[in-house]
Amino acid sequence: MAMAGADGFLQDANEALASLLGYARSELQGMAIAHFTHSDDWLVESHFLRELFCGRRDSYRIDKRYRSKSGNPLWVRLQVIAVPGVQGLSVCALGMVVDLTERRQSKAELRIVASAVESQEARLGQLNQDLSESHQRLRDMAAQNEAMLEQERKHIALEVHDELGQVLTALRMNMSLLEMRLGEKLPALIDEMQGMKELVDRAIQGVRNVAGSLRPAALDMGLVSAIEWQCHDFSRHTGVACAFHARPGNIELEEKRAVVVFRIVQESLTNVSRYARASQVDVNLGRRGDELWVQVRDNGAGFDQAAAAKRKSFGLLGMRERAIALGGRVEIASTAGSGTVISLLIPIGPGEIGVGS
Ligand SMILES: Nc1ncnc2c1ncn2[C@@H]1O[C@H](COP(=O)(O)OP(=O)(O)OP(=O)(O)O)[C@@H](O)[C@H]1O
Ligand SMILES: [Mg+2]
Repeated sequence: MAMAGADGFLQDANEALASLLGYARSELQGMAIAHFTHSDDWLVESHFLRELFCGRRDSYRIDKRYRSKSGNPLWVRLQVIAVPGVQGLSVCALGMVVDLTERRQSKAELRIVASAVESQEARLGQLNQDLSESHQRLRDMAAQNEAMLEQERKHIALEVHDELGQVLTALRMNMSLLEMRLGEKLPALIDEMQGMKELVDRAIQGVRNVAGSLRPAALDMGLVSAIEWQCHDFSRHTGVACAFHARPGNIELEEKRAVVVFRIVQESLTNVSRYARASQVDVNLGRRGDELWVQVRDNGAGFDQAAAAKRKSFGLLGMRERAIALGGRVEIASTAGSGTVISLLIPIGPGEIGVGS
């Protein structure tokens, strides 16, 4: 607390203010307020003081900066009232000072912390964006690689099928001709020839299998036939009943997309044969709104998805990524002991015809 005159000099100050400013009380008596007040703040305060002593106001309150004797900056709140004198003129101003330095400092520190948090958040946001952009680029690259691989597979399948297949078929025909021409003269040749024909037949079947696994010929008949063939082939190889249900109608997807759907069903069925120990599999193909819906459901052992996710396998991951690359998604429902349902949903593109349409 302090008392000041119209001249801007202190008349007196109490011990609390003296100790706040670091002066002896006697040093403060007669000291100009401007001496320990920040010059900008003194400009404002001297204006208020003048108004107070002219009687235009009877009090004022400001937050201002002091400088202690040792030069430390201090923030204070000053409440000043006029002590009335004769003829309505003030004789002195009585000021009460509250030290705000700590509060101000913690506010400033909070501001610094808040702005540091803000800039960290901005950096994190940027990093997240960069990460999802590079994730997207990787996904695009993987999809492109996959498409190239499928193209290459198709090419090799056709080469194997056409070149090797034709040579073997010609060989088979020549053997039959030879058998007809020489069979009667050289009966021992017939047995020999029979064995050789069986070998050639096995080679022809092998060529078909290789070509078929590189690129299933069934895809040439359209997606519905290809998946129906897959179910049939699965049952034949595993002995597990596999029912195919498709809503009547057409489905014509762009070839690149049809191959992806085919591969997802293929991986689902492979997983069933490897892990499910199922007795029944149902494959559904249909349309849900503007989406193509394919579902592979088995009644087998099921699995713990969280545990499977920890393993570094690529089957389920690949399905998900392939579906995302087509703008769709794969949903997996499975719990140990209750079978597995894999559902694929992809948007039907412009110019493509969906089942039941
Ligand atoms: N239909 C299913 N029934 C039971 N378990 C399954 C089924 N499908 C997947 N799983 C479980 O999920 C795990 C992950 O499958 P995923 O296809 O990702 O990998 P994988 O088949 O083990 O290896 P990869 O496909 O890379 O050769 C499997 O190891 C298996 O335990
Ligand atoms: Mg797998």
